[in-house]
Amino acid sequence: MAQRKKLIIGNWKMNLNVHEASIFVHTIAKDVAVHRDVEVVLAPTALALQPISLQINRRQFKLAAQNFYHQDQGAFTGEVSATQLRGLVEYALVGHSERRHIFHESDKDIRAKVQAAIRNHIKPVLCIGETAQQKADGETNDCLHDQLVGGLANVTSEELEKVVIAYEPVWAIGTGNNASPSDVEKATRAIRSQIKHLYGEASAESVHVLYGGSVKADSAATYLQVPGVDGLLIGGASLDRQAFLSIVSKAHGAAATQDASA
Ligand code: PGA
Repeated sequence: MAQRKKLIIGNWKMNLNVHEASIFVHTIAKDVAVHRDVEVVLAPTALALQPISLQINRRQFKLAAQNFYHQDQGAFTGEVSATQLRGLVEYALVGHSERRHIFHESDKDIRAKVQAAIRNHIKPVLCIGETAQQKADGETNDCLHDQLVGGLANVTSEELEKVVIAYEPVWAIGTGNNASPSDVEKATRAIRSQIKHLYGEASAESVHVLYGGSVKADSAATYLQVPGVDGLLIGGASLDRQAFLSIVSKAHGAAATQDASA
């Protein structure tokens, strides 16, 4: 299997004000080592992106937007565009289940955001995952298929190189009910096989697939060892300094093991 970087994304959601966010970055920066095969990405509130971008060493941390609007500019009161985020963030979350369910974002909205991110040189992190009901009904693969096809329609295989897929079962997010490693392995295999079907073998090998959903310091290493998982999307634990540092160090360990076995 090709060598893929490990990606650890901390999604702070609607927590920490600008001052608190800056202090948090300051306290973790001392202990996050720079590693060429690990990318540590922070997704603070949109308000904190600008000040934090001036504070961080970009070799140590990258930034992600939690959300944006799909139009580049115009009369869209209250919105922030990918064009405005360009240069500030390297990644943007798209299709997070909280956006799909609380804000009723459709696959059409999500597809437009994927396009807007790519057009503005921002890597979209396309979040997909089944609900508890879909899992109970044996519809996980159909759901992943529909959300992948829905989000990626119009994306070329060249553009796909910029896309990260995050498998986040809805029932696992913020609930403490994390998915079993074998469920995660099955889902990531299904995602790669759908990518293979849509874009071919090389794209299926190179696309980054993350797991997210109640990952904690003590479960991170297990997920990082699941074949086909290239990193983690962390919510709650990313706001806990010790837990987040421990997860980052596990990603370093996983990258080192990968290097040794290459
Ligand atoms: P959680 O959130 O780690 O708190 O479950 C994950 C996410 O929302 O991406």
